[in-house]
Amino acid sequence: LLDNDARLAKPFEAMTRSKPPPGTPDRRRPHGGAAVGVALLGCGTVGSGVLRLLAENAAYFAERVGVPIEVRHVVVRDVNKERTADCDRRWLTSDIERVFADEAVELVVEVMGGIDAAGAAIERALGSGRSVVTANKALLAERGPRLLELARESGADLAFEAAVGGGIPIIRTLRDAFASDEVGEIVGILNGTSNFVLTRMKESGASFASALAEAQRLGYAEADPTLDVGGHDAAQKLAVLAMLAFGVRATEKEMLVEGITELGPRHFAFAERFGYVIKHLVIGRVRAGKCELRAHPALVPRSSVFANVTGSLNAIKLEGRALGPCFLSGRGAGDMPTAVSVVSDILDGARSIVAGIPGLITRGRPMKPCSHLPRGDTTTSYLISLDVADKPGVLAAITAALAEHAVSIAQIVQTRGEPDAAEVVLLTHEAREGDVMAAREALSRASFMRAPPFLLRIEDV
Ligand SMILES: NC(=O)c1ccc[n+]([C@@H]2O[C@H](COP(=O)([O-])OP(=O)(O)OC[C@H]3O[C@@H](n4cnc5c(N)ncnc54)[C@H](OP(=O)(O)O)[C@@H]3O)[C@@H](O)[C@H]2O)c1
Repeated sequence: LLDNDARLAKPFEAMTRSKPPPGTPDRRRPHGGAAVGVALLGCGTVGSGVLRLLAENAAYFAERVGVPIEVRHVVVRDVNKERTADCDRRWLTSDIERVFADEAVELVVEVMGGIDAAGAAIERALGSGRSVVTANKALLAERGPRLLELARESGADLAFEAAVGGGIPIIRTLRDAFASDEVGEIVGILNGTSNFVLTRMKESGASFASALAEAQRLGYAEADPTLDVGGHDAAQKLAVLAMLAFGVRATEKEMLVEGITELGPRHFAFAERFGYVIKHLVIGRVRAGKCELRAHPALVPRSSVFANVTGSLNAIKLEGRALGPCFLSGRGAGDMPTAVSVVSDILDGARSIVAGIPGLITRGRPMKPCSHLPRGDTTTSYLISLDVADKPGVLAAITAALAEHAVSIAQIVQTRGEPDAAEVVLLTHEAREGDVMAAREALSRASFMRAPPFLLRIEDV
């Protein structure tokens, strides 16, 4: 029996304790009753929520972890700024060196955002064997695979539940619930600003500009909304999900990314007419070993579960090969929803530190060299709207141009516009993106076109 114990103990030891780089203090020790020391980098919207949750539930968290969570430093740019009551002024510093000089800091929580300073701090924390919790999707989209590798090497945890979907537990679901299954598809609404703007445009017939202004007034959109309404924020979140679900590295270069800025009331009228709702979707799929990643506005059937995800809500549907569909929806941003995810990661990280087994969250996630499906090879059906001169032969020329590029029409409607003008709206059968783009290009050169063709992809999700 003793022999067996020794034999069993060995692989377990190997599994839970990878070798830290030379010079790294070995923090992976049974904890022995001391509090887990935490440093918070950033104390803005999310950081303030984190401090509030930690203060309000301190006793309960201590019970769950086995020892208290002790905030030791809060790093900010301006120590003189007004902070909430949960932020003890003695913690405040603008000098990050205080964090790394403090041996009692075992967990670093990065909620300051940005790439360079945040990235350097996280690398340094992981390099010194400290576990890290971050909410920084932009950083993870850019450097996620490298940071995961660093965490694996140092035997520390890198947790980032809040980086995608705010308070929705999507990372845990992928990491834990889907550990025994293979994810074949991810579809989501991951940008609350875009979803709020699209909801208002549909409900009130507002223009993009006025719906965005309303979102800004109500705090659902930043003063500079480019990342959100341009589709880039959703694409960053898709890159993080694809890294976990499909084990691929992806940047915007490998994705099809479009925002909602070109949409107007007439597009909502088409959508209504054909039984669809316009949503900004992220779509990730692996088919025949190739990965397809897209973030763009799309028509979804009125009966789709995504059609009823309104306002600033987020939603994600995962398709497991064995499980089938799994749907999560909730608040994708805001101080407290995001803080819930950050603090849950802090509790996980602290529990692992106390148990002497940090690094389990990150372990076993090797990145595969990515084989991306070329953008032109993705297939879906499309709505194409054409402003044309109302004269004989135009319809025949449109159908001929589409047929020449192997794009087949499922429905076509023509309405009269101004005198001598018509609007032709057609729905295609499933077609290759490359073929549809070539047909659009050909049509845009035709003499009867009065404006560039407008196109929306249709997703039966
Ligand atoms: N807000 C959300 O709903 C939400 C949701 C999900 C994820 N996130 C992510 O969470 C992170 C934080 O977002 P947030 O909305 O809380 O940001 P925020 O309100 O702008 O707060 C940023 C905080 O970081 C500090 N900071 C920024 N750069 C710094 C630097 N170089 N050195 C030291 N301190 C620095 C700021 O200090 P001062 O206070 O002195 O200015 C501030 O306290 C971002 O990565 C964001 O993408 C946010």
